[in-house]
Amino acid sequence: MEKSHIFATVITTGLLCVSTLASAYDADWKRGRVYYRSVCTACHAAQAGGSIAPSTMSKSQWGTYLQADKHAKGKDSMKQYVSKAYRASIKSQNKAAEKFADVPEDELFEDIKAFVIKGAKDGDSPASCS
Ligand code: HEC
Repeated sequence: MEKSHIFATVITTGLLCVSTLASAYDADWKRGRVYYRSVCTACHAAQAGGSIAPSTMSKSQWGTYLQADKHAKGKDSMKQYVSKAYRASIKSQNKAAEKFADVPEDELFEDIKAFVIKGAKDGDSPASCS
């Protein structure tokens, strides 16, 4: 009994390590687009004087912007709007927040990043926000 338990633990730990090593996350720009358009743009249209298109910045500007994580002229953090807590707080009025309620924060952040880089003014397909 004891031995097989240890054995099972060793196997499980081994599998976890292998899957961690293998998991360079492959960002899903389409999911990023849905979130950007439904959550980010919804608020910009209401509170930022209009939507903010990915094509307003270049790839490198987006890279610097996301790295700095200063949002709304530095007043708050952009990551907070990607957090599970924020999604939970708006999910009753926002379908995308509800649909992606359980997506890990890091993955959703990478998805949004992939979308804005692709949609940047010098990106593969410059994108508006709606
Ligand atoms: C709850 C409202 C709200 C949400 C949600 C929101 N933003 Fe914003 N955002 C603002 C406001 C307000 C401004 C404008 C600040 C200004 O110009 O004074 C802004 C500005 C911006 C800007 C322009 C540069 C800057 O920081 O001033 C970018 C880029 C941006 N937001 C990206 C995002 C992204 C990406 C998301 C979604 C992950 C997001 N925002 C979610 C309110 C929001």
